[in-house]
Amino acid sequence: MIVKFKVFRYNPSLEKPYYSEYELEVYKGMTVLEALNEIKAKIDSTLSWRQSCRMGVCGSCAMVINGKPSLACQTQVLELKSDEIIIEPLKSFPVIKDLACDLNNLFRHHTSVKPYIIRKDLEETTSPDSEFIQTPEELENYLQFAYCIKCGACISACPISQSNEEFLGPQALMSALRYIYDNRDDGFEDRLSILDSPNGCFRCHFAQSCSYVCPKGVDPAKAIQYLKREIVLYSLGIKKKKKLAQTQKLGEKLSEVPEKYKYPEFTLSKPT
Ligand code: SF4
Ligand code: SF4
Ligand code: FES
Repeated sequence: MIVKFKVFRYNPSLEKPYYSEYELEVYKGMTVLEALNEIKAKIDSTLSWRQSCRMGVCGSCAMVINGKPSLACQTQVLELKSDEIIIEPLKSFPVIKDLACDLNNLFRHHTSVKPYIIRKDLEETTSPDSEFIQTPEELENYLQFAYCIKCGACISACPISQSNEEFLGPQALMSALRYIYDNRDDGFEDRLSILDSPNGCFRCHFAQSCSYVCPKGVDPAKAIQYLKREIVLYSLGIKKKKKLAQTQKLGEKLSEVPEKYKYPEFTLSKPT
């Protein structure tokens, strides 16, 4: 089957944007990323985009395919059921060239919400000699939100991010909740001023397009609603005190872990 690929082209230093059209014989199982590689190898070596893993893990190949922000390596050409496929760069980000965007804004907002474990017992955090205990149920609490690969598809789909680059956006807000829901973290108050700022979570109007396009099933729209609830409960003074993860010294037996999670004869020892 022959499919026409209409690809957005732009080189900010040289020209106005335009579309290039390429016709390609496609086969069952061919992804949009493979089609782009074939176009580059056989038809037009000047086409640019980003890719790395080819397996939906690195997040590099996010682009807008037939109007939907998607991973090119996870999108099968034949499943699009169209003899014309339009490929464009992610919205909400400046274009560097063709399909490659400048994602600095994603990482700026991601960094601003302190996406790491914050503890009050600083000594244990900086010079650890123990591990923080976490049960499978406690892991389950935030696991869905830890699957984010920072591809930017949700930000491209978000109408607020498209019109306001200072809005923290679905990726960063969801990341904040991922840590707030982690029983090893005690950083809710450290993140509060940015999350509850004019460009924080209350700017989201819950259109849910971020969750609709997320290729990893993370559901950032749900995370943002949970985040709003946490902030409202805190403001009303009725947020429950979080039970933080206990530490377990290296070399000690996991005596405080419930029986069902214990390995039979397992003890931790310091690496030599
Ligand atoms: S939440 Fe989903 S769409 Fe957004 S950056 Fe993470 S993986 Fe990509
Ligand atoms: S739910 Fe919020 S973050 Fe997601 S697309 Fe809508 S406005 Fe943007
Ligand atoms: S190339 Fe890594 S997610 Fe597509």
